[in-house]
Amino acid sequence: MTCRLVVLVSGNGSNLQALLDASASGQLSADVVAVVSNKADAFGLTRASNAGIATDVVERHDKAEARADFDRRLANTVARHQPQLVVLAGWMRLLTSAFLDRFPVINLHPALPGQFPGTHAIDRAFDAWQQNQTDRSGVMVHWVPDDGVDNGPVIATTEVPFVEHDTLESFEKRMHEAEHALLVDAVNLVVAENSLETTGQ
Ligand code: GRF
Repeated sequence: MTCRLVVLVSGNGSNLQALLDASASGQLSADVVAVVSNKADAFGLTRASNAGIATDVVERHDKAEARADFDRRLANTVARHQPQLVVLAGWMRLLTSAFLDRFPVINLHPALPGQFPGTHAIDRAFDAWQQNQTDRSGVMVHWVPDDGVDNGPVIATTEVPFVEHDTLESFEKRMHEAEHALLVDAVNLVVAENSLETTGQ
């Protein structure tokens, strides 16, 4: 039996697409069994539907809803798909222990460990390069043990050096290519090295 993945997305879902493509070509030792988004208009949901994969939307009720209450609703929805691993692939919302205590969760972030946590990591790395503060950035996949921002035991990284005449667009393109490859590799690594059980019930 291959590993059951639930993928959480908030937007475009190009990293989800990398997992779906790898799965279709037999290069992913896991099955994406559902895609869940906190945004009803996330294009990632369309990608999932096109691949015949179940989708769910869990949006925040209103601004007054406590973070933990949202996370419990999200966890209950995710649990119905009986995942062995939850993958945050462009998921743009911090999760608390109300969610994280129920599943093993990994996150993809477009920066190297300890660098540029939070949003706009690619733009901030590019600015740092332009100011001669760095000559490289990179991407990482890490475990999400708690509500730290883009921080947790590192599973895999890829360095992405800047090159002469880089523009934000050319750098961003290489970063996304690196993310797409690394996410597939990291999922395969996690599945190979851990005996993951169905969780979250
Ligand atoms: C990726 O760069 C991801 O690392 C970051 O947001 C972007 C989402 O891209 N957190 P996509 O939705 O997978 O295309």
